[in-house]
Amino acid sequence: MIRLKDIVLVRDKKTILQVKDFHLAEGERLAVIGPNGSGKSTLVKVLALLEPPTSGEVFFRGEKVTTKNSLAIRRRMAVVFQEPLLLNITVFNNVSQGMRFRGIDAVERQRRVDYWLDRFGIATLRNRKPLNLSGGEAQRVSLARAFALEPEVVFMDEPFSALDFSTRLELLESLGARLAETGATIVFVTHDINEIPYLTDNVAVIDGGMIAFKGGLDSLLAGEIEAPSVQRLLRPFKKVGYTCFST
Ligand SMILES: Nc1ncnc2c1ncn2[C@@H]1O[C@H](COP(=O)(O)OP(=O)(O)O)[C@@H](O)[C@H]1O
Ligand SMILES: [Mg+2]
Repeated sequence: MIRLKDIVLVRDKKTILQVKDFHLAEGERLAVIGPNGSGKSTLVKVLALLEPPTSGEVFFRGEKVTTKNSLAIRRRMAVVFQEPLLLNITVFNNVSQGMRFRGIDAVERQRRVDYWLDRFGIATLRNRKPLNLSGGEAQRVSLARAFALEPEVVFMDEPFSALDFSTRLELLESLGARLAETGATIVFVTHDINEIPYLTDNVAVIDGGMIAFKGGLDSLLAGEIEAPSVQRLLRPFKKVGYTCFST
């Protein structure tokens, strides 16, 4: 669905992303993990067409992305950030707003808002303003808003990192269930390996702006990949003597 070819992104004379070849398939659910500053958000911004690379090419469904078609293609994607970025209007209108911009009629908007508020367990919040919502509730609104767009790809950049532990688990479980229902193509960024199994068994490790691994979570946990960034992720599991899938 999305392909990156020979991507380099330079900021302040520093190369912050370098991806020779990357492919996100239709229906793929990819977790992207890496330490702070490793380039996760930059990768998402390039994939979501929010930031043009210094060099290289991005393809969406085989079509090369250019300055001309980039906006139209971007409208087929949705992004959820760590901060929910809600407007000071009702929850209903927050979820509806993005659809308005995309020209979806009022009847269909209402149907989708009702559906997604219900799926994320926040139907009772529809007339509330974001200011008095909890962090977990606000992020549920933000997820409903993204899914209501029925985008071809959803990017989530550490959406639960600002939430407390139990709220984080609740949201991971909700999101995992919704993803199992929809078959959506998603990229989920996290710095916490524990979040991944709730959502997918498919993971990319990014380190120093480069993709050090892409493949099954099981082979990552099996410890066969020697890259230091991958080995670092496994340290907590090794400490407690956890060996994965060793039959
Ligand atoms: N606009 C920018 N200008 C200069 N450096 C940047 C810019 N955006 C990101 N960086 C740097 O690029 C690196 C990767 O950033 P980022 O993609 O945000 O990492 P992550 O999301 O993994 O924490 C970091 O070292 C960061 O400081
Ligand atoms: Mg980031």
